[in-house]
Amino acid sequence: MSQQAFLRDAMRRMNFTRDTLAQRIGITRRALDSWLLPDESAETRKMPDIAQRFVLEILKSAPSYTQSVDSVRPGNGELAHHLLSVDGYTRDSVEALLRVADIMQPIARRQKTTRVLEGAVLANLFFEASTRTRLSFSSAFARLGGSVCDTTGFTFSSMAKGESIADTSRVISGYADAIVVRHPELGAVAEFARATHVPVINAGDGPGEHPSQALLDLYTIQREFSRVDKLIDGAHIVFVGDLKYGRTVHSLSKLLALYRNLRFTLISPQSLMLPQHLVESLAQKGHHIEQTHDLQSGLKGADVVYATRIQKERFAQEETLEAYSADFQVNQALINATCAAHTLIMHPLPRDSRPGANDLSIDLNHDPRLAIFKQTDNGIAVRMAIFATLLGVEDQVQYSLREVGWRVPVYLGAEDEVPYGDQ
Ligand code: CP
Repeated sequence: MSQQAFLRDAMRRMNFTRDTLAQRIGITRRALDSWLLPDESAETRKMPDIAQRFVLEILKSAPSYTQSVDSVRPGNGELAHHLLSVDGYTRDSVEALLRVADIMQPIARRQKTTRVLEGAVLANLFFEASTRTRLSFSSAFARLGGSVCDTTGFTFSSMAKGESIADTSRVISGYADAIVVRHPELGAVAEFARATHVPVINAGDGPGEHPSQALLDLYTIQREFSRVDKLIDGAHIVFVGDLKYGRTVHSLSKLLALYRNLRFTLISPQSLMLPQHLVESLAQKGHHIEQTHDLQSGLKGADVVYATRIQKERFAQEETLEAYSADFQVNQALINATCAAHTLIMHPLPRDSRPGANDLSIDLNHDPRLAIFKQTDNGIAVRMAIFATLLGVEDQVQYSLREVGWRVPVYLGAEDEVPYGDQ
């Protein structure tokens, strides 16, 4: 395990901020930050052996989770070998998965390669539009050494000829070792899973859930909070937009509910409020919830602003966009007026970037608080972790790493301010 993954795991298991860990082991925060950089970074410093032994000593007295495959998988009873929902996760099991994602980072960031899934095949079945989820699941599987076959839309699948989900699932089980499915209907991915013993991953089922997106969002929040010495416990999370159909919010709210004493502000038009069963579930777990239609007041004091796109494609016939005015656009002026220097601005993407859209504005593109491309980049490591744990190779990865043989750009995006890999 890399030094960075070791230290991040230690902080996660002890629920320590960087300042707390630095204090406990008697070093400066600056020294700890340099130990937490990726091995390949020019600024990284090696942690002395004595410090590592000290951290291990502190860890012995910390409440620990086991690192077996079972603990990393959500426990969904007979469907436990699939990832259909975040419902089965505990705080320990989700954090164990995030630990595996940390181990994947050097591969995801193209500093190392592995072949642990050489010979394995992924079937990517997307019956709804997607850029991120489809391509990042493909990329994650390929970076583990596997290969990918896929189909997109109903038109190019034999479902267009009336084939059932059960038949389709059974057929593909003979071709692939993992199946990723996005489908416009709630519950359709679970139907795929019931027809196969090959692991099925829900890549979004209508207005239901999007578990892998929520896992990468949680991972991003934890990584970014760590830089500014915050813990998820006690954080103020603001969800904005279409909370009724926004499946990423449904899954992420459930994962965040595993932490303690959060404050949730739910900002949406009246017609697009978070489903009541999710609100009640958050309240039952002891979190504080406010629901409002007022963006300006709702954003105040946010640690995380999580904006979402209006899912027009899911509207029932009688539903219209009338209630959703330009007042719901999250833009630079609004963020400056309501949020702090360390507020994290997130969005699962895609956002509607057309002029006048009621979405996350492109005028925030140069704001260092904007984490949208950190989310997309982290999606690779998290999806690699999902595959590795579902297929039982997560313990082999760290012993299989080799140097990359090709040139990787120092910056990926034309406007990136931080070299790729130093995030
Ligand atoms: N966040 C997300 O699910 O994006 P895509 O629809 O592009 O996959």
